[in-house]
Amino acid sequence: MLRVEATLRKERGSMDKPFVYVTRKLPEEQLSALKEEAHIEMWEKEEEPCPRAILKEKAKKAHGLLTMLSDTIDEELLKGAPHLKVVANLAVGYDNIDVEAAQKHRVICCNTPGVLTESTADLTFALLMASARRIVEASDWIRQGKWTGWGPLLLAGADVHHKTIGIVGMGSIGQAVARRAKGFGMKILYHNRTRNPDAEAELGASYLPFDELLEQADFVVCLTPLTHETKHLFNRSAFKKMKRSAIFINVSRGQVVNEDDLYEALVEKDIAGAGLDVFAEEPVQKDHPLVSLPQVTALPHIGSAAVETREAMMRLCAENIALVLRGKQAKTEI
Ligand code: DGY
Repeated sequence: MLRVEATLRKERGSMDKPFVYVTRKLPEEQLSALKEEAHIEMWEKEEEPCPRAILKEKAKKAHGLLTMLSDTIDEELLKGAPHLKVVANLAVGYDNIDVEAAQKHRVICCNTPGVLTESTADLTFALLMASARRIVEASDWIRQGKWTGWGPLLLAGADVHHKTIGIVGMGSIGQAVARRAKGFGMKILYHNRTRNPDAEAELGASYLPFDELLEQADFVVCLTPLTHETKHLFNRSAFKKMKRSAIFINVSRGQVVNEDDLYEALVEKDIAGAGLDVFAEEPVQKDHPLVSLPQVTALPHIGSAAVETREAMMRLCAENIALVLRGKQAKTEI
């Protein structure tokens, strides 16, 4: 009898706590900031997104949501979530959230800037180097049994050192990429909505209008967030302005690029190659036209995917939710 009462009390206790739904299976220890604060429930799969119907159902009673970039948080969902106070997105990008609608519903939205800057810059530079020096293609060459002899121009790529990098989107990740480029003796050009005097002073980066950057850069690196203004920023006319030897790198969002135009630019040899960590529709299949081109190095959206970084992102999301549920200011509110 006593045990039944204790169980009931425990259940009631956890039901009295705010309810937080996590839309992917995450290691529980990374959510410890929330343990005392909330009753946590998680979608059980690690790599499969939580179906929209389930997310909407959970949102009906949730006080907090810990979301992934594949979850759409829009007016429809927010309207059906009367208790919702906070959405913490496990990403720095938040184009999956209708922030205006969230403000209207008095829901605080948070992202994870800062903790992923260096890891994302590492990946961006790795993708740039892999694309320039054909690393993935060369590795596949061996695996496919094609290495029959050494040739003076076999798998020869493009140099990176002392070339010109053009960074579109000079936020903190852009600046961290520029720091790496400086180590390679590269000339650094950038384009941004506003000028970045820190990058100019620290790295000798030069601001250029978009079109001029495209004309001058050997590597055009896209790090700008996806907004109404940047959707399909990289289209046929942009690719036509680039050097024929240019390599385009995208670690931002796939929809910043018109993929049909990029495909055409690559096939027509308007540009030499591309390194893509992101695609308009993810996940992409192996028969995606861009993935089928040898001059494209394709990655499955792993910009910030270092274990330490991903764990720091999870902890930051949990802390943000706990703070808002306690009536305090989130650490990284959007
Ligand atoms: C982000 O944080 O926006 C990245 O795309 C996730 O890797």
